[in-house]
Amino acid sequence: MDTKNTHEIDIVLATSSKINSVDFDNLSFGSTFTDHMLVCDFKEGKWGKPVIKPYEPFMIDPSAKVFHYGQAIFEGMKAYKDEQDQVWIFRPDQNLDRFNKSAVRMAMPEVPESIFIDGLKTILDIERAWVKKGLGNTLYIRPFMIAIGSGVIAQPSTQYRFMIILSPAKSYYSGDVKVIIAEHYSRAANGGIGAAKAAGNYSAQFYPQKLAQEKGFQQIIWTDDATHTKLEEAGTMNVFFKINDTLYTAPTSERILDGVTRKSLIDLAKREGIKVEERSVLVDEIVTAAKDGSLKEIFGAGTAAVVSPIVGFQYKEDYYELPKLQNSIAMDLKDKLTKIQYNLAEDTFGWTVKI
Ligand code: COI
Repeated sequence: MDTKNTHEIDIVLATSSKINSVDFDNLSFGSTFTDHMLVCDFKEGKWGKPVIKPYEPFMIDPSAKVFHYGQAIFEGMKAYKDEQDQVWIFRPDQNLDRFNKSAVRMAMPEVPESIFIDGLKTILDIERAWVKKGLGNTLYIRPFMIAIGSGVIAQPSTQYRFMIILSPAKSYYSGDVKVIIAEHYSRAANGGIGAAKAAGNYSAQFYPQKLAQEKGFQQIIWTDDATHTKLEEAGTMNVFFKINDTLYTAPTSERILDGVTRKSLIDLAKREGIKVEERSVLVDEIVTAAKDGSLKEIFGAGTAAVVSPIVGFQYKEDYYELPKLQNSIAMDLKDKLTKIQYNLAEDTFGWTVKI
């Protein structure tokens, strides 16, 4: 596919805005959407013209493959507003790249940069009033693609819809995050779709997550499916462990999502002179480290979750509480990352893109 093709965008503006009815101080994550959405359809082997139009429900055939076989992928990104009212996005090239890797794995067409990035910049320009100033205020960006071709034969669709919707958001988790380490269920397996941001990777976690929530845990830290001895990721976030002075996180693999926040934190930590090792961390290792006091921190990292400190973990019958720290690496890295994202600190990495 020629990804350099430029696609003009049709724009149909909403006749009125719902922005004044939104309580921006009391947002529940992912439940309020802006006035417009971007839609672009793929059929007969090619992408059509993207359209930005008022946010509204749409009809698709009940036999569409997305309903029956879950051919669906997505991304999570954010827009930030600085003190000068300029709007910024963070490493969009990384999201496009991962989106297209997910597309290939799910037998879906790749989306050209001229639709994904140019479309995103155009819709953000239209919706800039929805990006509120102040650390913690963001506009969560959800690009996604679904198979809309009809027919319940179990084969890839020939028709797809790419969309971008936008949702003003504050934090993903409210309150303490306690986790439980997976002993039975698995999120992903070698050769599977764990590295793709495929819808089914998330719904597959809902049942074990529900069981965990009933026991008072917000998240599960998934372990490798073969032995349940290696710590992998938490489903909505990658996970970091600080043992003594070193930060550890599992290497990305066929089972682990290549998180943009994860890789940015690794670069930031290395720049700060913090020792970072990308290697498998064993469950036994953190249990021993929690017992002897060398386990200092566990935190999750993701676009929605940003950096979320974990206050304790359950493994088998025992709960291990993490030390309460005044100065944590998690908070320090979060501060450095968000200052770059909000244009409050110099971006020496060249990660930010102005809208
Ligand atoms: C994100 O961090 O953007 C994600 O995609 C996780 C999602 C489940 C909220």
